[in-house]
Order: sequence, then structure tokens, then C-alpha cells
Amino acid sequence: MAEILVRHRGARPCRVSLGEGALGDLPQLWSSEWKDAAIIGDRNVTGLFAEQIANLLKPMVNRLLVLDFKPGEKNKTRQTKEKLEDAMLEGGLTRETCVVALGGGISLDLAGLVAATFMRGIPYVSIPTTLLAQVDASIGGKTAVNTPHGKNLVGAFHQPDAVLIDPGMLDTLPAGEWPNGLAEAVKHAVVGDRSLFDWMESNRISLRSPAGASAWFLERCVRIKAGVVADDEREQGRRAILNFGHTIAHAVESASAWKVTHGRAVALGMFLEAGIARRATGFPEADFVRLSGIMNDLGLISPREFGHQDFDRILPHFKSDKKRRDDRIRMSLPVEIGQMAPGEGTYTMPVDPGLIRKVWNENLRQPC
Ligand SMILES: NC(=O)c1ccc[n+]([C@@H]2O[C@H](COP(=O)([O-])OP(=O)(O)OC[C@H]3O[C@@H](n4cnc5c(N)ncnc54)[C@H](O)[C@@H]3O)[C@@H](O)[C@H]2O)c1
Ligand SMILES: [Zn+2]
Repeated sequence: MAEILVRHRGARPCRVSLGEGALGDLPQLWSSEWKDAAIIGDRNVTGLFAEQIANLLKPMVNRLLVLDFKPGEKNKTRQTKEKLEDAMLEGGLTRETCVVALGGGISLDLAGLVAATFMRGIPYVSIPTTLLAQVDASIGGKTAVNTPHGKNLVGAFHQPDAVLIDPGMLDTLPAGEWPNGLAEAVKHAVVGDRSLFDWMESNRISLRSPAGASAWFLERCVRIKAGVVADDEREQGRRAILNFGHTIAHAVESASAWKVTHGRAVALGMFLEAGIARRATGFPEADFVRLSGIMNDLGLISPREFGHQDFDRILPHFKSDKKRRDDRIRMSLPVEIGQMAPGEGTYTMPVDPGLIRKVWNENLRQPC
């Protein structure tokens, strides 16, 4: 079992346990101050795992609620949060409660935000069950919901007390969800670890299926994210590098009314933002070829899903990007694989909408 400490401003670092059977650590890490528990996740994951988790917790808590909501990005909203909070209040939960955030990134973002504001903030433990959540969303304490104005616009930084990453929980993950996690892993490699990129490139065939993603690979991804978060918990500088691909991704997700999944939108966003970086930062042509090659081989990009005409639909959705300053769209762009442009300490740079349109049109053919 690997143990990784995510250091941040809080008094205690967050402990990440990673390995087959990590879920079984839950009773050992449970604090005697946590008298009640609320297990929160979408209906798919509570159906699969809530009973097992409840059995681990029952001997240690007075009250235990299992609260679920309908799966899907369109339900990561303030309305769902309110329903969960009302159920917690009706169930008599107090500030001595610990939330168990269970599921993919959507469940963790939502349950984490409930924990951030319930009784002005209670502890939570994260149990990620998708590849995306295990390599990315469970680490770093960003919690949020979407609004009709855009993605993740209402949220809080709230660090979990502990994270349990159990690769065995991925066994039931639908095959279509796998590439979503690979997209964030490619992002980690591009923003901070060229040797991980080399490794992923050499193992691109085996990585296409869950059997290829070893605990070693998961740990490497978690360590990259933990390192970036420790430097800059509240994203005042370097943490912005984790937004590579995300300026375009968030606009695409929002414009599609949440039909395009986050991972697929990030893959498209990285492909296009790397195209922008070729002009804006001198991102080498050879690195662009490698990046588009690996995304193709991992089944992350299918440019035919989008066409020229879609850009006009997407452009207005850049308006609500959180990185925007002085009314300009900003992106985190690589200078080469493994290194991001410092952008005078902001790790972002302004990008002209005309350039985004040009790169979009050059790279995305009309749909067949
Ligand atoms: N907070 C962060 O730092 C951060 C980082 C990256 C992404 N995110 C957010 O994460 C979200 C995407 O997360 P996601 O891709 O994990 O999607 P998700 O949470 O919707 O999970 C994908 C689907 O798989 C199902 N599922 C999850 N685990 C399962 C399992 N083990 N077996 C069977 N089914 C399972 C879910 O019910 C869902 O239908 C986005 O909203 C994104 O903004 C947050
Ligand atoms: Zn992401």
C-alpha cells in the first residue's frame, strides 16, 4: 500500500492510501470525533459500494445516512446540493458528521462542496471510483457545482481528511469511462513529467484497458498532482498549469449542455490548446505530433465529432471561464512536453479568439 501526503495550509496534511484493498483502511483512519456519517454518491456508485462502506462504518458511528442523486454532469448543481443538505438536516446530522464522498469526479465535487458548507464546514473522506477521480479529482480539495452560466462556477477549496484509492473499485467501471481518466493522466504528464509521457507512449496499447493501469501508474499521477497542489493550494500561480486543455474543455462541455463528458472535452481541449501553443509559446512540432499521436492511440480524440460550424456555438461559453482577466480569454499552455509556460507567474496567457478559431478550423474537419 502506498501512502502519499498532500501538504496544504491546513493543520494536518491529507493522507492518500493507494493500493488494492485500500477501502479496508476506512475504519483505521476514522476519527473518534466523527460521530455520524453521510455517504454521498450518485445512484450507480451507492448501488455498488454503499452497503460495503456502511458495514465498515456502522460499529463506529451513531447515525449513518446513504444519500444519492441522479448520475450525470447536468445534476452537478446547486439544486442537487440543496436536496442533499435538506436530507442531512432532516436526518438530524450535526457538525460531528464526516461525509464519505464516493464515486467519480461528479460525486466527489458535489459531496466535497456539501462538506465545505454544511454547518460552515465538516470533514470528509474521498473514495474515488473512476480512473479520472483516482488520478485527478480526488486530490487537491477543489469542490464545485455547475451553473447555467458555466462549469464549476460555484465552489470552495476544501481538503479531504483522507483519500482511499482502491484500484479494485475500477473493475465495474463502464469501458466508455476509461478514456476520460486517461485524458487527465496525459495532462499530468504534459504539465509536469516528460518521463511519464515517455512511459505512457511506450505502454499506449496496454493502457487502453484497465489491466494496463498499474498501481505504479496511478501513484505517479497522484504524486504529480499532489506536488502541484502543495506548491499552490488556492491556485494563485502554478496550480493553473493543471488547467491545460480546460479553457476549451469547459466551453465545449457547457455548449453541449453537458452531453460531452469532461474527459473527452479535456482531450479535445489539449489537442487544440497544444495547436495554439505551437504559435504562442513555440511548442515544438515534434511534441505536437507525439501528443496528438498518443491521444489518437489511446482513443481520446475523434475530430469528426466536431466541425467548423460548432465554433460559433462554443465561443460565447468562454465568457465565464474563471481564468479570464481584463475581459481576455486566458489559457495554460505548454512550452514543451513536461514544461508549462510561466506567464509572468500566472502560468496562463491571453489568447486571441481569432487564433482559437483558426486552430479549431485547421484541426477539425466538417463532420461526415
Ligand atoms: N475537483 C477536481 O480537482 C476535478 C478534477 C478533474 C475533474 N473533475 C470533475 O470530475 C467530473 C468528471 O468525473 P468522472 O469522469 O469521474 O465522471 P462521473 O463522476 O460522472 O463518473 C462517470 C460514470 O461512471 C459511473 N461510475 C463511477 N464509478 C463507477 C464504478 N466503479 N463502477 C461503475 N460505474 C461507476 C458514475 O455513476 C457515472 O455514471 C467533472 O465534473 C469534472 O469537472 C474535478
Ligand atoms: Zn479536468
